[in-house]
Amino acid sequence: MSGDSTNKGGAWRTAYERSLADPEGFWSEAAAAVDWDRTWDRVLDDSNAPFYRWFSGAELNTCHNAVDRHVANGRGEQAAIIHDSPVTGRVETITYAELQDRVARFAGVLRDLDVAKGDRVIVYMPMVPEAAVAMLACARIGAIHSVVFGGFSARELATRIDDAKPKVVVAGSCGIEPNRIVPYKPLLDDAIEQASHKPEHCVILQREQQTAELIPGRDLDWAQAAAAAEPADCLPVAATDPLYILYTSGTTGQPKGVVRDNGGHAVAMTWSMRNIYGVEPGEVFWSASDVGWVVGHSYIVYAPLLHGCTTIIYEGKPVGTPDAGAFWRVIEQHKVAVLFTAPTAFRAIKRDDPNAEHLGRYDTSSLRALFLAGERCDPNTLEWAGEILRVPVVDHWWQTETGWAIAANCLGLEVLPIKSGSPTKPVPGYDVQVLGDDSEPVAPGNIGRIMIKLPLPPGCLPTLWGNDERFRASYLAAESGYYLSGDAGYMDDDGYVFVMSRIDDIINVAGHRLSTGGMEAVLAGHPDVAECAVIGVADQLKGELPLGLVVLKAGVDRPEADLAKELVAKVRQEIGPVAAFKSVLVVSRLPKTRSGKILRGTMKHIAEGTEYRMPATIDDPAILEEIKATLAAAGYTHGS
Ligand code: COA
Ligand code: AMP
Repeated sequence: MSGDSTNKGGAWRTAYERSLADPEGFWSEAAAAVDWDRTWDRVLDDSNAPFYRWFSGAELNTCHNAVDRHVANGRGEQAAIIHDSPVTGRVETITYAELQDRVARFAGVLRDLDVAKGDRVIVYMPMVPEAAVAMLACARIGAIHSVVFGGFSARELATRIDDAKPKVVVAGSCGIEPNRIVPYKPLLDDAIEQASHKPEHCVILQREQQTAELIPGRDLDWAQAAAAAEPADCLPVAATDPLYILYTSGTTGQPKGVVRDNGGHAVAMTWSMRNIYGVEPGEVFWSASDVGWVVGHSYIVYAPLLHGCTTIIYEGKPVGTPDAGAFWRVIEQHKVAVLFTAPTAFRAIKRDDPNAEHLGRYDTSSLRALFLAGERCDPNTLEWAGEILRVPVVDHWWQTETGWAIAANCLGLEVLPIKSGSPTKPVPGYDVQVLGDDSEPVAPGNIGRIMIKLPLPPGCLPTLWGNDERFRASYLAAESGYYLSGDAGYMDDDGYVFVMSRIDDIINVAGHRLSTGGMEAVLAGHPDVAECAVIGVADQLKGELPLGLVVLKAGVDRPEADLAKELVAKVRQEIGPVAAFKSVLVVSRLPKTRSGKILRGTMKHIAEGTEYRMPATIDDPAILEEIKATLAAAGYTHGS
């Protein structure tokens, strides 16, 4: 692939250079696409640097911008949300006018439960439109939502309840996975039991697949409450007020509460739709993810609606609901212009239908581009997707913290040449630099820590919920004046970014971000385990899969298979099925440095069958031989 010499002076470069040279001018122009109740005093408020604030002094309402103004501007009859649910066999279309009514009514329900500006509401819902309605209803009255992914356990939900201290929890009675119904309500009851903070009320959406028992006095039935409620109006809030908290894995078992503000978020989301995704209002944008993840927040709910698009809430999988043609069916049926999903979804489709035979049954001519994110995209998957779909396939890199892409091929600005394995170039607003251990920028082609020079653009996290200190320590302390992304990689001579790996203990399983430290804490809590390590091992479908290595306490003598079963069940119980933790091996010792640090990276190389250098600081090299033998006997070490 050629470099970008033909693009010098092109629209990407012009926008990028301007965004760094004149961020206030750049973002105040972008802010014209948003309705404000009061304009800002300062576009970029650096009075408390390194904590920056965008549009301080301004007021707006995110729900008004995502819903009401489109109705006022003539989009009332346009589809806002299409709920496409192969697991229930239903498709429902909700217009902007209907969405306004549903959201206003549900905002009325929350208001009647005394939820006011700044109060938190936890949303624990499957992929149903009511999840978006609940989020928008919170935004409407200035409450702060925190959506928790349905694949997490009661204990994880309890941790989030204790951190966010919600007044109300909104939940579905059940989720529907292809192989089973997942009753959410018992998990919720269990979580509230475990949590020290007790929400005053729960509003339960009863689904016919499995209804839930309600606790009189505490629980309300969604349908009844909404029917009885008076609609609530949009309340202007400060641009800098939190819109939501989204918990994401850190390196410890305690998740980080990423905060998103209202004003910067609305500006960044709206700007990204046209400039990154190349989508116009009125078009259909489909993000095949889950509302519980950041991709779902940004590109199922907020960005498409802020931009006046139709968004699809898809309650199904890429394969098995009913087959590997599911995505093509949705694209044809709803005339999807742009699809966004994780590479793992395409790996699953390719595994089941390597010649893409299902594709021939559908007309996917409405599709203009495919965007992939959530994990490193292997070149094979990227190229296969491009070959079968014959549209640009854009790998773009971002994280829960930023809320939108740090590096991408911004199709709405100009189409840069694609280089497989790279999410292309930094997006306007992000001053991406790769620093070495000596704090100096490394030469092109050399790996270092990928950092972003402060300030981060609008839409990125201003802090962690209730924890400025953890925000500072986790992201700002590594290098003064920079944000630490947590990813390592390099930039090439053309300024393309290559994101290679995490520098911490976070792994990515099927596009889901998980903490190996959190899994280790669960294993270490088993009475027979003396010490343990969890590593992510490359997997052809899910990108990575966790593998536990445990050392037993002296005197413990029991069949390994029994113990492994217990440990697998314990992680599923305490973290959730989404951890996909299914493999444990017993070893006599773990390899460590002389200072006692477990050599997880070295074990990962051995398990994946990739080259590694014997760490100079290893305490006892002989132990690696035992690890190698154990992994080989379990079928690892040959690469995957
Ligand atoms: N509620 C309850 N359980 C859930 C769940 C939810 N919302 N989502 C997933 N789970 C469960 C699954 O049923 C599975 O349970 P199991 O161990 O009993 O089989 C487990 O969590 C692991 O789920 P997942 O890793 O998603 O694997 P899968 O085998 O169900 O599906 C893919 C594999 C590739 C098809 C799937 O991961 C996928 O569609 N990914 C799309 C990409 C995506 O959504 N990425 C998110 C960030 S962009
Ligand atoms: P999450 O916060 O769940 O979105 O996960 C963010 C992390 O996923 C990033 O820090 C990366 O490690 C990884 N990631 C996301 N997108 C990409 C990508 N396009 N290429 C490489 N890694 C990615």
